Amino acid sequence: MERPQPDTMSQDLSEALKEATKEVHTQAENSEFMKNFQKGQVTEEGFKLMMASLYHVYKALEEEIERNKKSLVYVPLYFAEELHRRAALEQDMAFWYGPHWQEAIPYTQATKRYVRRLREVGRKEPELLVAHTYTRYLGDLSGGQVLKKIAQKALDLPSSGKGLAFFTFPKITSVTKFKQLYRSRMNTLEMTPEVRQRVIEEAKTSFLLNIQLFEELQKLLTGKAEDQSPSQAQGLRRRAGSWAQGLTPTETPRGKPQPSVLSQASLIRWVLMLSFLVATVAVGLYAM
Ligand code: HEM
Repeated sequence: MERPQPDTMSQDLSEALKEATKEVHTQAENSEFMKNFQKGQVTEEGFKLMMASLYHVYKALEEEIERNKKSLVYVPLYFAEELHRRAALEQDMAFWYGPHWQEAIPYTQATKRYVRRLREVGRKEPELLVAHTYTRYLGDLSGGQVLKKIAQKALDLPSSGKGLAFFTFPKITSVTKFKQLYRSRMNTLEMTPEVRQRVIEEAKTSFLLNIQLFEELQKLLTGKAEDQSPSQAQGLRRRAGSWAQGLTPTETPRGKPQPSVLSQASLIRWVLMLSFLVATVAVGLYAM
């Protein structure tokens, strides 16, 4: 792990997070799915997929927040009334997938990976939760508001906001003021330099998990599951935290390891040797 830099240490956490995630933020904005979205090129299919993923993500995130809401590492950031999205996403799920949405919604591999990390953080490293709430909630209050307007127009949705409850924060009167409050609360969290560094790394990981989610959605939509550039994904992994680096590019949908080429080659070698032996013995017996 990189050693914390002195200038980073004297900075407020909110500033340090903003600076450290600048590059991954640009990458998120420039992911194909997000680029198309910004151009108004969002289909109902794509939007539904994204919303279902967000439902799973926020369900996990907010369950982990509830688990840790009394902990000193999280208590100043507990804004369930103002921020929590699960109830809104449940409304959206019913709108998009109908009354039996619980059985109907997809749960993609990248979404499961994101959820696994949220569970791990909530249970084993709750001091890192702030990294995930920062990435999602401040993002929803920023670029999320732009996406809402684009979706409303592109999908020809009613002005009542139906189907877009996720993007609406009825308990927040001024988004700008609320974001300021949230940043100042983040800055009150007491943490050692070591924890602070891990929080910063986790925020980058959190962005990476979002980017991977968008990349997967894009692949599902365009049906080119095979030809995604692994070099790009690896580059992103390298830049993100150690947890994301542990994800191997060969990870299969069910998480099972692929049979390696090496073991297949040695199997063939054994079969050939055995056939040769059997043939030699047979010829010997025949000659007798
Ligand atoms: C089309 C995609 C996106 C656009 C256009 C966009 C746009 C913006 C803008 C304009 C801000 C600055 C707002 C301000 O300073 O008050 C911002 C902040 C932010 N965005 Fe995005 N964003 C996008 C995607 C994302 C994604 C995918 C994430 C993470 C999942 C994200 C997370 C954040 C966060 C955490 C901030 C707050 C930065 C800070 O002040 O510390 N954004 N975004």
